[in-house]
Amino acid sequence: MATPLTCWTCGDRLRLLARVLSCPNGHPVPGLGDEVHDLWPPDREPPRVDTYGTPIGWAYDTGVNTRGLARLAARLEWGTDVARMYRLMDEGLRTEPGQVVLDVPVGGGTSFAEGAPDLRGLLVGVDLSPVMLHRAAGRRRARSLEERVLLARGDATRLPLATSSVDTVLCFNGLHVIPDKETAMTEFGRVLKPGGRLLGTVLVEDGPAPFSAIVGLERLASFFVPANARELRSLAKSAGFSRWDQDLEGALLYFRGEIRP
Ligand SMILES: C[S@@+](CC[C@H](N)C(=O)[O-])C[C@H]1O[C@@H](n2cnc3c(N)ncnc32)[C@H](O)[C@@H]1O
Ligand SMILES: [Zn+2]
Repeated sequence: MATPLTCWTCGDRLRLLARVLSCPNGHPVPGLGDEVHDLWPPDREPPRVDTYGTPIGWAYDTGVNTRGLARLAARLEWGTDVARMYRLMDEGLRTEPGQVVLDVPVGGGTSFAEGAPDLRGLLVGVDLSPVMLHRAAGRRRARSLEERVLLARGDATRLPLATSSVDTVLCFNGLHVIPDKETAMTEFGRVLKPGGRLLGTVLVEDGPAPFSAIVGLERLASFFVPANARELRSLAKSAGFSRWDQDLEGALLYFRGEIRP
């Protein structure tokens, strides 16, 4: 089966047979173990520090995958009920056989951690952190999703995916850790098929008080690069999203876009 993932050497689509990913022209497809593929751009240095490979990543991953705790923490810290975020993830995974969802950054596999009963197509999860990807691989195994979930190390700003190859892109809590939002949005637009959709959430700096102040402090104290709600709308338009809806609840912006049909 041809996948949307591409070979960095020849650009052709990688094939998947019996859970083995290969290039039709024989180029090697490196792996990180546990059926996590390494599709980081070979000519780009990976970040010196894998932030989500530190206890910060463990704390985030444990929190976001303990849904009761996450709802309480997000209510206090960002003024939003993230039950809505989990519902949006479920909506994004609802697919028919043959359809493809790209989850970037997939992190520890939050979107499919509860089993993804409506995922009938293929989910491709991309993240820069090998540690987070191994957490995602653990959840994939625990939920017996090996046939439906492909995991690869890659860069959201230079995706290892073919143009117009994906039905839905999920981007949850990713754009506030990716400084170059414009390039990431352009990449999402590039890999989506005409009429494909983007669903996600992002922390913004221009939410209501006191949450905007909390996000401002987090920005100063950490690696967060929150988005700006107005700016995101214009980036979406430039990236080719002809429909764009966004709704701010506290400091978390819920968005959904559709690429020009
Ligand atoms: C806050 S987590 C979100 C993960 C998941 N979507 C969730 O909601 O649980 C952010 C993730 O973004 C990843 N990340 C940061 N910059 C990235 C980039 N340029 N390309 C791919 N992943 C990136 C980090 O490694 C981390 O796993
Ligand atoms: Zn190749």
